Amino acid sequence: MIEGSGAFHGAGPSDLLRTEVYLKTLEKMGYHAIALGDDAFNFGTDFIQNQIKSLNIPFLSANVHRGEAKEILGRPYLIKELGPVKIGILALTAPPLNRDQIQAEGFRLEVSGPLAGIKEYLPAIKRETHLIVVLSDLSEKENRLLAFGFGDVQVILAARGNIPVENVNHAVIVSPGQKHLARLDLWVDHNGRLLRHDFKWIYLSMDILPDPEVEQFISQAYGAAVKDRAGQAEAKRKFSDQALEQDRDNGYVGAESCRSCHGTEYQAWKSTKHSQAFDTLRNLQRHFYPDCISCHTTGFGYPTGFQMGQTTGRLAGVECEVCHGPGRKHTVRPETSQLRRTVPASICLACHDKERTPGLEEQKELFFSRISHKALTR
Ligand code: HEC
Ligand code: HEC
Ligand code: HEC
Ligand code: HEC
Repeated sequence: MIEGSGAFHGAGPSDLLRTEVYLKTLEKMGYHAIALGDDAFNFGTDFIQNQIKSLNIPFLSANVHRGEAKEILGRPYLIKELGPVKIGILALTAPPLNRDQIQAEGFRLEVSGPLAGIKEYLPAIKRETHLIVVLSDLSEKENRLLAFGFGDVQVILAARGNIPVENVNHAVIVSPGQKHLARLDLWVDHNGRLLRHDFKWIYLSMDILPDPEVEQFISQAYGAAVKDRAGQAEAKRKFSDQALEQDRDNGYVGAESCRSCHGTEYQAWKSTKHSQAFDTLRNLQRHFYPDCISCHTTGFGYPTGFQMGQTTGRLAGVECEVCHGPGRKHTVRPETSQLRRTVPASICLACHDKERTPGLEEQKELFFSRISHKALTR
């Protein structure tokens, strides 16, 4: 099980968090190797160094070096024994377009020419193994040149390229495409000569159920990661101009607490998508993104509001207290503690910006009628 390049996609703090959890999940799943692609430096050199140190999973590249001494950053190659066959797996990294990125912070890294990388290690791998597999981050054209230039390479697993399977010289080049999982079966004779191959994509359809252990691990990992991190600061708290929200003696209690006294409104609200807003994120596995959470939950950024890492439960969704304000005081003494009875459109616009909901400001009645408790219970 091998991860090609692309594991380090993105640049923001939530991308970094996702990458961290993703890599840990690969380790948990028992992945055999991760190839370093040109995206591996997206989060700086310290980040990649720490991942290599802390994860029990080899990071491969024959042409990424560190420091003045120019030692190899991860491992140039890996040898795996599968039954009687010894397979050598070597990875090549494409030099990143933005060279400053890998020199600006942390220590200095250098991505040398991939050809120099393969030339340096190929003889040793050849002596020790039957079959040579190259994990390539290079272009389609470069992969073909590789197959012609290095006849000992029998399999090239390409991170880029549009032709899924191609025979070039003595090699088979396989490009599953980004965001795809694929399986390659190889038949080899006693000398490791490649006899035949079979390539297929594995579709993550609904038939493939989530592994409960991995699923639990992922939510725990996100939960732990978001707790010791200021990721929440990424999202600004909403309604900082509203007195109810700023009253420190008040707080959020959740829609279930309103139900006993406002059953009708509760049922009406339940029938709107506001009540499902967090499920929408969870279904997309985006429930740990501060920039999504801020509009799909209640009270995010406030001490008693939704807490990142929560996967369900209280305040997970656009609840009553988004529109009416935090209700702790009101639930105790409804007669004396007033909530926002009339909800101004400015409250809606905090989430329904012009891009997402064009026309809300102009056609206020129309949009209000779709969430109006009275209209929905009529
Ligand atoms: C905290 C952010 C937030 C606020 C404030 C907010 N909404 Fe929404 N609204 C959402 C989200 C998110 C959805 C989409 C939920 C989904 O489908 O997952 C939504 C969906 C809707 C829908 C579609 C509902 C349906 O059942 O089809 C309407 C209509 C709507 N909002 C109107 C309003 C109005 C009117 C206000 C102000 C009184 C308002 N919203 C305030 C976040 C918000
Ligand atoms: C600024 C507030 C805001 C942010 C940030 C935000 N959303 Fe939403 N989202 C909304 C609102 C409002 C709607 C409802 C739009 C409508 O129908 O008028 C919505 C609707 C949606 C829908 C459509 C639900 C359906 O009916 O199928 C999806 C999916 C969604 N959001 C996912 C996300 C994801 C993923 C993120 C983070 C990348 C995100 N949202 C960030 C406010 C937001
Ligand atoms: C998207 C914003 C929004 C959400 C969420 C919301 N309300 Fe309302 N609520 C309103 C608006 C707007 C009114 C004003 C009357 C109307 O348009 O129906 C209102 C009115 C009320 C009233 C006054 C009586 C009435 O029906 O006019 C009560 C009580 C109430 N809401 C309770 C709740 C409770 C309880 C919840 C959660 C279960 C909730 N609301 C969720 C927007 C919201
Ligand atoms: C113990 C019963 C009780 C609970 C729990 C309760 N309310 Fe109320 N609520 C009332 C009563 C009674 C009124 C009418 C108060 C009045 O007009 O004097 C009221 C009025 C309101 C109003 C109209 C505005 C106002 O202040 O008069 C809104 C909006 C509202 N409640 C929302 C909520 C929300 C949201 C929750 C949950 C956070 C909630 N209520 C929990 C009893 C309750």
